[in-house]
Amino acid sequence: MSDLSRRTFIGAAAAVGAGLAADALPGPAARGAGRAVGANDKLVLGLIGCGGMGAHNMRVLMEKPEVEVAALCDVDEARMPGDIKNVTEKYGKAPTIYRDYRKMLERKDIDAVIIGTPDHWHALNLIHAVEAGKDAYCEKPISHSIVEAKSMAAAVKRYGRIVQVGTWQRSTPEFTNSVAYIRAGKLGKIVLARAWKTDPFAVGNVAPTTPPAGLDYDFWTGPAAMLPYAPNHVHGNWRWFLNYGSGMTGDWGVHMMDIALLGLSEDTDLAMPAEVTSCGGRLAYPTDDRTAPDTVQTLMRFAKPDVVLHWQTGRDFPGRPDHGTEFVSADGKTLRVWRGGWHVMDPSGELIPPERVEPTNDHWQNWLDCVKSREQPRSHLASMAQTTIVCHLANCSLLAGATVRWDKAKNDITGRAGKETLCYSREYRKPWKLPVYK
Ligand SMILES: NC(=O)c1ccc[n+]([C@@H]2O[C@H](COP(=O)([O-])OP(=O)(O)OC[C@H]3O[C@@H](n4cnc5c(N)ncnc54)[C@H](O)[C@@H]3O)[C@@H](O)[C@H]2O)c1
Repeated sequence: MSDLSRRTFIGAAAAVGAGLAADALPGPAARGAGRAVGANDKLVLGLIGCGGMGAHNMRVLMEKPEVEVAALCDVDEARMPGDIKNVTEKYGKAPTIYRDYRKMLERKDIDAVIIGTPDHWHALNLIHAVEAGKDAYCEKPISHSIVEAKSMAAAVKRYGRIVQVGTWQRSTPEFTNSVAYIRAGKLGKIVLARAWKTDPFAVGNVAPTTPPAGLDYDFWTGPAAMLPYAPNHVHGNWRWFLNYGSGMTGDWGVHMMDIALLGLSEDTDLAMPAEVTSCGGRLAYPTDDRTAPDTVQTLMRFAKPDVVLHWQTGRDFPGRPDHGTEFVSADGKTLRVWRGGWHVMDPSGELIPPERVEPTNDHWQNWLDCVKSREQPRSHLASMAQTTIVCHLANCSLLAGATVRWDKAKNDITGRAGKETLCYSREYRKPWKLPVYK
């Protein structure tokens, strides 16, 4: 074992040695009370899930003077060296390393965590974090299923924690200004919203093999179904497998449909569709290992406001950005927004001169400010639970082969269609158990 490996798994060995059961955290009465962070205090962070987007979030946050990173956690030691080096160089002190995030959550000196794990882990990571009194920056989509999203929102509310979800488009000027333009009624009455993203991601066919020594594949799989290990199913690629993620509909749909939903709503309590109908499947890559659909067309009918939302992913979109959101008005004008720009077109396609664009502060700073003020950040968990649920409804309809109906007041699917799919809920693999909050 290398020096790095030895150091890396001191925390892991301690956790395993402690024989921590999957649901062996203290009872709710002892939970949820975090340290009050003063305006001039350092905010001490831990990262759960290294090497990918979690590490990117950590690096952005490390640029902020009020942040200190004290601990890193991953179930694969090969994902950690770069992050260990960055933190050590920045603070002159090596971070403590964990394999089991629950051991990290026991630390009283950690105020908040960044959750950068694959989607099938978010619900447990986040609920356990808020139970332990931590605020969180949690990656999107917030959950693997509708039932998880509801429980996460209820837990965050119950423990009064500040959670920013990684939908940073809510903090960039092209999107904030577009949403403000629509909400101010400048485009007119909206009758149709469209959101799209191309999907060029085949992962190939790779025979199952033995997991690498540094990867705890059992822990990586966590509450998902245990499948034979194949290298093209894990890091980065898990999103193309419905056992772990939700395909492009959850991966980018959560960004692009989020903007549509914000534009159709008065605030961050989002308008929700009453009926959702999808068709599609694995049409472009039928022999690929991926199990998520590569072609999806979804129509959503809203009652309030009276509007249709069209979600589309697949091999498409020449002549326009490969992702985007559009709003169409009753008199035929279209507002189009994508990462890096937005414009308004009249019915003939002529550009309408743009307005002055108002700047915003960045998504990570917004979270830090809110952790101190205890106000809700732009992508607060309850609002992102709604967008995530909309994505899951699209997949529920596709998997069920039926129209799925949502009741916003009851915050649930009505009728049976969709409830039998794993995007609605699933049995966790033992010993993992979803803490259910209502
Ligand atoms: N906001 C954005 O723009 C954006 C962009 C990319 C990814 N993401 C999101 O970020 C999250 C991570 O995506 P990624 O592509 O970086 O994934 P990734 O697979 O590259 O990285 C995830 C890491 O988490 C680790 N991990 C898995 N289970 C763990 C556990 N129980 N405890 C600790 N570590 C664990 C893995 O070993 C891996 O190192 C996803 O939710 C994804 O949707 C968001």
